[in-house]
Amino acid sequence: MTSVGALVVAAGRGERLGPGDPKALRVLGGTPMLVHAVRALAAASRVEHVVVAAPPDAVTVTRQLLAGEHGGASLVVVAGGAERPDSVRAALAALPDDVDVVLVHDAARPLAPSDLADAVADAVAAGCDAVVPVLPVVDTVKQVSGDKVVATVDRSTLRAVQTPQGFRRGVLEQAHREHRTGDGVEVTDDAGLVERIGRPVTVVPGHEDAFKVTRPVDLLLAEALLADRGRRSRADG
Ligand code: CTP
Ligand code: MG
Repeated sequence: MTSVGALVVAAGRGERLGPGDPKALRVLGGTPMLVHAVRALAAASRVEHVVVAAPPDAVTVTRQLLAGEHGGASLVVVAGGAERPDSVRAALAALPDDVDVVLVHDAARPLAPSDLADAVADAVAAGCDAVVPVLPVVDTVKQVSGDKVVATVDRSTLRAVQTPQGFRRGVLEQAHREHRTGDGVEVTDDAGLVERIGRPVTVVPGHEDAFKVTRPVDLLLAEALLADRGRRSRADG
């Protein structure tokens, strides 16, 4: 039987969002983003364990915030690290031994639906080493040098990548073990590390609601989406 654990990385400062609390603890509809993210993962039918990498100075408050918010899944909160891969490694080290499929999710994608987590976990359970949810790129993308355009990139082969990303546990652990910082290549997601150890990464359809809250305008979008969900569920109920 496959056992699925979800890591939620939440230790970033949120510099691009502007001054304030660490991003994951900022509220959306009155509830911290991290709480939204953990609720959705814990509600995914495949997810049995959740490990959160919290801002190092906010581990206790994070535990308090998440008490009672993790449904039937187990919950562990650890201190995250200086860079995102450090936070992933800290969370990975706290996963129960029996977990063999690992989802890695950004707390900064608080509205990613539970169904997306299940779809990613299903693809790993079906035999993929690594799985990423993707969407088509909507903007025209150009390569530049200084203020001059060098080329227009063929958009049809590009995809924007989201989380949760899913991995066979051994593959993710190996990718992080072999990751060396300071080699000049910026790796912004876990699948990027898996690519670098030569393992295949499979794509599945992403979801518009899984967008990342990065800049202030993203918070406005997230608030609007949440309000819309509230209206819909009241209309259904
Ligand atoms: N993250 C983390 N540990 C870090 C850096 C980032 O756990 N040392 C997490 C963030 O909390 C976020 C996710 O990685 O959930 C994606 O990172 P990003 O959107 O860049 O968030 P921040 O690093 O917080 O934002 P910024 O880069 O604007 O400071
Ligand atoms: Mg960051």
